[in-house]
Amino acid sequence: MSWIAKEIKTVIASAPGKIILSGEHAVVYEKPAILAALNRRLSVSLNPASATEVVISENPELAKFALNFGLKALGEPQEKLKLEIFSTISVGCGMGSSAALAAAITAALFKYLNRPFGKKKVNEIAHEIERKQHGNPSGGDNTVSFYGGFLWYRKETEFLKIFKTLRFRSAKLPRFVLINTGRPLETTGEMVADVRKLYDQNKSQTEKILERTEKVTKKVLLALMAFNQKQLIEAIKENEKLLEELGVVSPLAEEIVKEIEKAGGAAKISGAGGKRKGSGILLSFHREKEILWEIAKKRNLDAFEVKLGKEGVKIERS
Ligand code: PMV
Repeated sequence: MSWIAKEIKTVIASAPGKIILSGEHAVVYEKPAILAALNRRLSVSLNPASATEVVISENPELAKFALNFGLKALGEPQEKLKLEIFSTISVGCGMGSSAALAAAITAALFKYLNRPFGKKKVNEIAHEIERKQHGNPSGGDNTVSFYGGFLWYRKETEFLKIFKTLRFRSAKLPRFVLINTGRPLETTGEMVADVRKLYDQNKSQTEKILERTEKVTKKVLLALMAFNQKQLIEAIKENEKLLEELGVVSPLAEEIVKEIEKAGGAAKISGAGGKRKGSGILLSFHREKEILWEIAKKRNLDAFEVKLGKEGVKIERS
Protein backbone atom coordinates (compact mmCIF):
# COMPACT_ATOMS: atom_id res chain seq x y z
CA MET A 1 0.00 0.00 0.00
CA SER A 2 1.33 3.45 -0.85
CA TRP A 3 2.55 5.85 1.83
CA ILE A 4 -0.13 8.43 0.89
CA ALA A 5 -2.94 5.86 1.19
CA LYS A 6 -1.60 4.92 4.64
CA GLU A 7 -1.56 8.54 5.76
CA ILE A 8 -5.27 9.06 5.27
CA LYS A 9 -6.82 5.68 5.87
CA THR A 10 -9.01 4.91 8.89
CA VAL A 11 -11.27 1.88 8.93
CA ILE A 12 -13.85 1.30 11.67
CA ALA A 13 -15.76 -1.98 11.94
CA SER A 14 -18.15 -3.20 14.62
CA ALA A 15 -19.57 -6.59 15.62
CA PRO A 16 -22.24 -7.65 18.15
CA GLY A 17 -22.00 -9.80 21.25
CA LYS A 18 -24.23 -12.87 21.45
CA ILE A 19 -26.30 -15.07 23.71
CA ILE A 20 -27.04 -18.77 23.29
CA LEU A 21 -30.77 -19.44 23.60
CA SER A 22 -30.22 -23.18 23.70
CA GLY A 23 -27.62 -25.85 22.97
CA GLU A 24 -24.28 -24.63 24.39
CA HIS A 25 -21.84 -27.49 25.01
CA ALA A 26 -24.12 -29.87 23.06
CA VAL A 27 -23.06 -27.90 19.96
CA VAL A 28 -19.50 -29.18 20.47
CA TYR A 29 -20.93 -32.73 19.99
CA GLU A 30 -22.63 -32.09 16.63
CA LYS A 31 -25.96 -31.09 18.19
CA PRO A 32 -27.72 -27.88 17.14
CA ALA A 33 -27.70 -24.58 19.01
CA ILE A 34 -29.75 -21.40 18.65
CA LEU A 35 -27.75 -18.21 18.98
CA ALA A 36 -28.75 -14.55 18.77
CA ALA A 37 -26.76 -11.38 18.17
CA LEU A 38 -27.17 -8.73 20.86
CA ASN A 39 -27.61 -4.98 20.89
CA ARG A 40 -24.23 -4.67 22.62
CA ARG A 41 -21.31 -4.18 20.24
CA LEU A 42 -17.55 -3.96 19.99
CA SER A 43 -15.89 -1.54 17.56
CA VAL A 44 -12.35 -1.56 16.25
CA SER A 45 -10.54 1.18 14.41
CA LEU A 46 -7.45 0.62 12.26
CA ASN A 47 -5.01 3.36 11.38
CA PRO A 48 -1.59 3.28 9.75
CA ALA A 49 1.27 3.51 12.26
CA SER A 50 5.02 3.34 12.35
CA ALA A 51 4.85 0.38 14.77
CA THR A 52 2.05 -2.01 15.71
CA GLU A 53 0.09 -0.62 18.63
CA VAL A 54 -3.00 -2.02 20.39
CA VAL A 55 -5.14 0.25 22.56
CA ILE A 56 -7.59 -1.79 24.66
CA SER A 57 -8.32 -2.21 28.34
CA GLU A 58 -9.08 -5.97 28.34
CA ASN A 59 -7.40 -8.90 26.63
CA PRO A 60 -4.68 -7.05 24.67
CA GLU A 61 -2.90 -10.39 23.96
CA LEU A 62 -5.89 -11.72 22.02
CA ALA A 63 -6.30 -8.41 20.15
CA LYS A 64 -2.64 -8.41 19.15
CA PHE A 65 -2.80 -12.06 18.15
CA ALA A 66 -5.99 -11.44 16.10
CA LEU A 67 -4.37 -8.51 14.31
CA ASN A 68 -1.18 -10.39 13.46
CA PHE A 69 -3.05 -13.57 12.52
CA GLY A 70 -5.40 -11.63 10.22
CA LEU A 71 -2.51 -9.78 8.55
CA LYS A 72 -0.66 -13.03 7.99
CA ALA A 73 -3.77 -14.76 6.61
CA LEU A 74 -4.13 -11.88 4.16
CA GLY A 75 -0.48 -12.03 3.12
CA GLU A 76 0.52 -8.68 4.70
CA PRO A 77 2.45 -9.69 7.84
CA GLN A 78 4.68 -6.60 7.68
CA GLU A 79 1.84 -4.05 7.80
CA LYS A 80 2.08 -1.75 10.87
CA LEU A 81 -1.24 -0.64 12.33
CA LYS A 82 -2.69 1.11 15.32
CA LEU A 83 -5.68 -0.90 16.58
CA GLU A 84 -8.14 0.74 18.98
CA ILE A 85 -11.02 -1.12 20.57
CA PHE A 86 -14.21 0.20 22.20
CA SER A 87 -16.69 -2.26 23.64
CA THR A 88 -19.94 -2.49 25.59
CA ILE A 89 -19.76 -6.28 25.75
CA SER A 90 -18.73 -7.63 29.16
CA VAL A 91 -15.62 -9.78 28.90
CA GLY A 92 -15.39 -13.45 29.91
CA CYS A 93 -19.02 -14.05 30.90
CA GLY A 94 -20.62 -15.72 27.87
CA MET A 95 -21.55 -12.65 25.83
CA GLY A 96 -19.16 -13.48 22.99
CA SER A 97 -16.71 -10.62 23.45
CA SER A 98 -13.77 -12.55 21.98
CA ALA A 99 -15.85 -13.66 18.96
CA ALA A 100 -16.95 -10.06 18.36
CA LEU A 101 -13.30 -9.00 18.60
CA ALA A 102 -12.25 -11.64 16.07
CA ALA A 103 -15.11 -10.81 13.68
CA ALA A 104 -14.62 -7.02 13.85
CA ILE A 105 -10.81 -7.14 13.45
CA THR A 106 -10.99 -9.56 10.52
CA ALA A 107 -13.67 -7.53 8.73
CA ALA A 108 -11.74 -4.27 9.32
CA LEU A 109 -8.54 -5.82 7.93
CA PHE A 110 -10.27 -7.01 4.74
CA LYS A 111 -11.58 -3.47 4.24
CA TYR A 112 -8.28 -1.79 5.14
CA LEU A 113 -6.37 -3.96 2.68
CA ASN A 114 -9.07 -3.57 0.00
CA ARG A 115 -9.64 -7.31 -0.24
CA PRO A 116 -12.86 -8.72 -1.73
CA PHE A 117 -15.20 -9.22 1.22
CA GLY A 118 -16.12 -12.92 0.86
CA LYS A 119 -18.25 -13.57 3.94
CA LYS A 120 -17.28 -17.24 4.22
CA LYS A 121 -13.56 -16.45 4.09
CA VAL A 122 -13.79 -13.58 6.60
CA ASN A 123 -15.75 -15.78 9.02
CA GLU A 124 -13.26 -18.65 8.61
CA ILE A 125 -10.39 -16.40 9.66
CA ALA A 126 -12.44 -15.13 12.63
CA HIS A 127 -12.98 -18.78 13.63
CA GLU A 128 -9.25 -19.47 13.50
CA ILE A 129 -8.70 -16.52 15.85
CA GLU A 130 -11.38 -17.93 18.21
CA ARG A 131 -9.49 -21.23 18.28
CA LYS A 132 -6.56 -19.38 19.81
CA GLN A 133 -8.80 -18.21 22.62
CA HIS A 134 -10.87 -21.36 23.27
CA GLY A 135 -8.99 -24.40 21.95
CA ASN A 136 -11.60 -26.06 19.78
CA PRO A 137 -14.74 -23.92 19.64
CA SER A 138 -17.80 -24.95 17.63
CA GLY A 139 -17.60 -21.75 15.57
CA GLY A 140 -21.13 -20.70 16.60
CA ASP A 141 -20.01 -17.54 18.46
CA ASN A 142 -18.03 -15.98 15.59
CA THR A 143 -20.68 -17.01 13.03
CA VAL A 144 -23.53 -15.28 14.86
CA SER A 145 -21.37 -12.24 15.54
CA PHE A 146 -20.46 -12.10 11.87
CA TYR A 147 -23.89 -12.72 10.31
CA GLY A 148 -26.05 -11.29 13.12
CA GLY A 149 -29.74 -12.09 13.68
CA PHE A 150 -30.81 -15.48 15.05
CA LEU A 151 -28.96 -18.60 13.92
CA TRP A 152 -29.66 -22.29 13.93
CA TYR A 153 -26.11 -23.66 14.03
CA ARG A 154 -24.72 -27.17 13.79
CA LYS A 155 -21.13 -28.28 13.43
CA GLU A 156 -21.36 -31.61 11.61
CA THR A 157 -17.57 -32.08 11.43
CA GLU A 158 -14.61 -29.72 11.55
CA PHE A 159 -15.05 -29.22 7.79
CA LEU A 160 -18.82 -28.89 7.63
CA LYS A 161 -20.58 -26.29 9.73
CA ILE A 162 -24.19 -25.73 8.79
CA PHE A 163 -26.20 -22.72 9.83
CA LYS A 164 -29.42 -21.04 8.88
CA THR A 165 -30.65 -17.58 9.69
CA LEU A 166 -33.95 -17.74 11.55
CA ARG A 167 -36.36 -14.89 10.99
CA PHE A 168 -38.48 -13.77 13.93
CA ARG A 169 -40.05 -10.44 14.58
CA SER A 170 -38.05 -9.50 17.67
CA ALA A 171 -40.85 -7.18 18.85
CA LYS A 172 -42.92 -10.28 19.57
CA LEU A 173 -40.21 -12.06 21.54
CA PRO A 174 -39.96 -11.84 25.31
CA ARG A 175 -37.59 -9.17 26.59
CA PHE A 176 -34.72 -10.95 28.27
CA VAL A 177 -32.71 -9.60 31.15
CA LEU A 178 -29.09 -10.68 31.51
CA ILE A 179 -27.95 -11.10 35.10
CA ASN A 180 -24.21 -11.38 35.48
CA THR A 181 -23.42 -13.99 38.15
CA GLY A 182 -19.73 -13.07 37.86
CA ARG A 183 -16.83 -13.88 35.61
CA PRO A 184 -16.13 -17.63 35.87
CA LEU A 185 -12.80 -18.68 37.35
CA GLU A 186 -12.61 -21.23 34.51
CA THR A 187 -12.04 -20.37 30.85
CA THR A 188 -14.37 -21.57 28.06
CA GLY A 189 -11.65 -24.02 27.00
CA GLU A 190 -11.50 -25.49 30.53
CA MET A 191 -15.29 -25.85 30.74
CA VAL A 192 -15.41 -27.56 27.33
CA ALA A 193 -12.58 -29.88 28.48
CA ASP A 194 -14.51 -30.70 31.69
CA VAL A 195 -17.56 -31.77 29.71
CA ARG A 196 -15.28 -33.85 27.47
CA LYS A 197 -13.95 -35.61 30.58
CA LEU A 198 -17.50 -36.37 31.72
CA TYR A 199 -18.29 -37.68 28.21
CA ASP A 200 -15.22 -39.92 28.13
CA GLN A 201 -15.88 -41.25 31.64
CA ASN A 202 -19.58 -41.87 31.16
CA LYS A 203 -20.39 -41.86 27.49
CA SER A 204 -23.92 -43.31 27.45
CA GLN A 205 -25.17 -41.09 30.30
CA THR A 206 -23.64 -37.93 28.79
CA GLU A 207 -24.88 -38.81 25.30
CA LYS A 208 -28.41 -39.01 26.78
CA ILE A 209 -28.06 -35.49 28.24
CA LEU A 210 -26.87 -34.20 24.86
CA GLU A 211 -29.74 -35.90 23.03
CA ARG A 212 -32.24 -34.39 25.48
CA THR A 213 -30.58 -31.01 24.88
CA GLU A 214 -31.12 -31.39 21.14
CA LYS A 215 -34.83 -32.05 21.78
CA VAL A 216 -35.03 -28.95 24.00
CA THR A 217 -33.30 -26.84 21.33
CA LYS A 218 -36.00 -27.94 18.87
CA LYS A 219 -38.65 -26.97 21.44
CA VAL A 220 -37.03 -23.53 21.73
CA LEU A 221 -37.16 -23.20 17.93
CA LEU A 222 -40.86 -24.12 17.80
CA ALA A 223 -41.69 -21.81 20.70
CA LEU A 224 -39.88 -18.93 18.93
CA MET A 225 -41.67 -19.66 15.64
CA ALA A 226 -45.05 -19.69 17.39
CA PHE A 227 -44.14 -16.71 19.64
CA ASN A 228 -45.27 -18.93 22.49
CA GLN A 229 -43.73 -17.39 25.60
CA LYS A 230 -44.98 -20.11 27.92
CA GLN A 231 -43.36 -22.88 25.86
CA LEU A 232 -40.17 -20.86 25.53
CA ILE A 233 -39.93 -20.40 29.28
CA GLU A 234 -40.51 -24.13 29.91
CA ALA A 235 -37.82 -25.03 27.35
CA ILE A 236 -35.36 -22.60 28.93
CA LYS A 237 -35.94 -24.22 32.32
CA GLU A 238 -35.34 -27.68 30.83
CA ASN A 239 -32.16 -26.48 29.11
CA GLU A 240 -30.85 -25.10 32.40
CA LYS A 241 -31.48 -28.44 34.18
CA LEU A 242 -29.51 -30.28 31.49
CA LEU A 243 -26.63 -27.81 31.79
CA GLU A 244 -26.67 -28.43 35.55
CA GLU A 245 -26.43 -32.17 34.84
CA LEU A 246 -23.39 -31.49 32.65
CA GLY A 247 -21.82 -29.78 35.66
CA VAL A 248 -21.29 -26.34 34.09
CA VAL A 249 -23.42 -24.31 36.53
CA SER A 250 -21.93 -23.16 39.84
CA PRO A 251 -23.83 -23.51 43.14
CA LEU A 252 -24.14 -19.70 43.26
CA ALA A 253 -25.72 -19.51 39.78
CA GLU A 254 -28.00 -22.47 40.55
CA GLU A 255 -29.23 -20.68 43.66
CA ILE A 256 -30.12 -17.56 41.64
CA VAL A 257 -31.88 -19.64 38.96
CA LYS A 258 -33.94 -21.35 41.67
CA GLU A 259 -34.89 -18.00 43.17
CA ILE A 260 -36.02 -16.70 39.75
CA GLU A 261 -38.04 -19.87 39.11
CA LYS A 262 -39.63 -19.68 42.55
CA ALA A 263 -40.68 -16.13 41.78
CA GLY A 264 -42.42 -17.38 38.58
CA GLY A 265 -39.67 -16.76 35.99
CA ALA A 266 -36.99 -18.78 34.22
CA ALA A 267 -33.26 -18.46 33.67
CA LYS A 268 -30.35 -20.39 32.20
CA ILE A 269 -26.64 -19.88 31.84
CA SER A 270 -25.66 -18.81 28.34
CA GLY A 271 -22.23 -19.85 27.09
CA ALA A 272 -19.66 -22.12 28.66
CA GLY A 273 -20.73 -21.47 32.30
CA GLY A 274 -18.48 -21.83 35.33
CA LYS A 275 -18.26 -24.33 38.20
CA ARG A 276 -16.64 -22.81 41.21
CA LYS A 277 -17.88 -19.23 41.54
CA GLY A 278 -19.64 -17.22 38.86
CA SER A 279 -21.16 -18.85 35.79
CA GLY A 280 -21.23 -15.72 33.65
CA ILE A 281 -24.53 -14.32 32.45
CA LEU A 282 -27.94 -15.78 33.16
CA LEU A 283 -30.44 -15.35 30.37
CA SER A 284 -33.48 -14.54 32.51
CA PHE A 285 -37.13 -13.91 31.90
CA HIS A 286 -40.05 -12.85 34.07
CA ARG A 287 -43.32 -11.24 33.03
CA GLU A 288 -42.66 -8.62 35.71
CA LYS A 289 -39.08 -7.55 35.02
CA GLU A 290 -38.90 -5.62 38.30
CA ILE A 291 -38.69 -8.97 40.11
CA LEU A 292 -35.47 -9.77 38.21
CA TRP A 293 -34.01 -6.32 38.97
CA GLU A 294 -34.81 -6.92 42.68
CA ILE A 295 -33.18 -10.36 42.73
CA ALA A 296 -30.05 -8.97 41.06
CA LYS A 297 -29.95 -5.86 43.25
CA LYS A 298 -30.29 -7.83 46.48
CA ARG A 299 -27.18 -9.77 45.47
CA ASN A 300 -25.33 -6.77 44.10
CA LEU A 301 -25.21 -8.22 40.60
CA ASP A 302 -25.19 -6.34 37.33
CA ALA A 303 -28.46 -6.80 35.36
CA PHE A 304 -29.53 -5.27 32.05
CA GLU A 305 -32.19 -5.76 29.42
CA VAL A 306 -31.09 -6.84 25.95
CA LYS A 307 -32.56 -6.95 22.48
CA LEU A 308 -31.93 -9.99 20.33
CA GLY A 309 -31.48 -10.58 16.61
CA LYS A 310 -29.37 -7.51 15.94
CA GLU A 311 -27.13 -6.72 12.98
CA GLY A 312 -23.88 -8.64 12.44
CA VAL A 313 -20.50 -7.23 11.39
CA LYS A 314 -20.68 -3.75 9.95
CA ILE A 315 -18.09 -1.50 8.33
CA GLU A 316 -18.84 1.80 10.07
CA ARG A 317 -16.24 3.89 8.24
CA SER A 318 -13.72 3.31 5.50
O1 PMV B 1 -18.90 -18.83 26.89
P1 PMV B 1 -18.72 -18.61 25.43
O2 PMV B 1 -19.34 -17.35 24.96
O3 PMV B 1 -17.30 -18.77 25.01
O4 PMV B 1 -19.56 -19.79 24.67
C1 PMV B 1 -19.09 -21.10 24.59
C2 PMV B 1 -20.11 -22.01 23.98
C3 PMV B 1 -19.75 -23.50 24.02
O5 PMV B 1 -20.83 -24.22 23.39
C4 PMV B 1 -19.62 -24.00 25.44
C5 PMV B 1 -18.45 -23.79 23.28
C6 PMV B 1 -18.53 -23.65 21.77
O6 PMV B 1 -17.45 -23.66 21.17
O7 PMV B 1 -19.62 -23.57 21.18
